[in-house]
Amino acid sequence: MKTLFDKTEIKSMRLENRFVRAATWEGMADENGYPTEKLIKLYEELARGGTGLIITGVAYPVEDSKVLNGMIGIYNDTFIPGYKELTDRVHKHGGKILIQVNYPGRDGKLINPEDLTIDEIKIVVSSFGDAAVRAEKSGFDGIEIHAAHGFFLSRFLTDNKRKDEYGGSYENNSRIIFQIYDDIRAKTKSDFIIFAKVNCVDQIDSEIAFGVCTYLCTELSKKGVNGIEISGQSGEMNGKNDDHYEESIFRDYAAEIAGKVECPVILVGLNRSYSVMNEILNSTGIDYFSLSRPLICQPDLVNMWRSDMDVKPECISCNQCFSADGKACIFH
Ligand SMILES: Cc1cc2nc3c(=O)[nH]c(=O)nc-3n(C[C@H](O)[C@H](O)[C@H](O)COP(=O)(O)O)c2cc1C
Repeated sequence: MKTLFDKTEIKSMRLENRFVRAATWEGMADENGYPTEKLIKLYEELARGGTGLIITGVAYPVEDSKVLNGMIGIYNDTFIPGYKELTDRVHKHGGKILIQVNYPGRDGKLINPEDLTIDEIKIVVSSFGDAAVRAEKSGFDGIEIHAAHGFFLSRFLTDNKRKDEYGGSYENNSRIIFQIYDDIRAKTKSDFIIFAKVNCVDQIDSEIAFGVCTYLCTELSKKGVNGIEISGQSGEMNGKNDDHYEESIFRDYAAEIAGKVECPVILVGLNRSYSVMNEILNSTGIDYFSLSRPLICQPDLVNMWRSDMDVKPECISCNQCFSADGKACIFH
């Protein structure tokens, strides 16, 4: 029988357990995207609190692509010393850490697939590889390509009006993500971890979303991706959803993907109780479980589960952490 506290390995990355801190925009970087001491302390606290793998909040890879206050950046080499300090402090506590990257917009505004010329797409693609090189030099264990939640890459998959090689079919819609994957792989060492976060359902067309998600994940797995995090958009953020589960709501989609790919599958979205995750772990091919809001509220939740698996997280999924200053839980 598998347990949530199994020690596992993904390539040479040794993980202390199957819990992942899902990427969470903390709003704690300075105005140019550099990590602050407050942000480093937060990651240190998560690692000390037992989280096996931390995925950072989304980072922007090109200077003018920032769209949220306090987002972290990784658009040139001056970021390396600050991130080295951050990764050292996480590793000191036995944690591992990936940086999540997305190209969300231009000049403070979100963009759509059709807003870019082919030459501009090529610049975006290589900005991910360049970000990965900086991440590797900074001591990150790997990178996560953020292709979920309706941001730029996610829009290529399901909300794409392009008529060229970047739109019009599952293959064309996925092309930019394949090229980003290839660019990162070509520029980094062979043990550098690459994850992708993908929606299984969304607000555009859930049938298409799952169709393209299945295609993309299967192809990325063939290319050698090291992990696929299955997320979605279906009213999940407020904890009251139309799906048939109240917890771990994308489990059926993620289980189906896990049956089709070689790489580990990570499930995100309302993972709340140890017993439910344990049951999913032992009845599907899903290997890891990521949590965002409960760890904003209780960064030491994983250690609490280590001593008592019946602990119920205090998080009530109220989403106040989206608006609270400094992305804090209003109850703490
Ligand atoms: C304050 C906040 C910031 C978030 N920022 C990101 C982000 O930067 N990248 C991302 O992929 N998801 C982000 N998410 C979504 C989470 O990673 C996760 O997919 C979602 O919250 C569902 O997990 P949960 O039910 O454990 O909170 C954010 C969520 C919250 C609450």
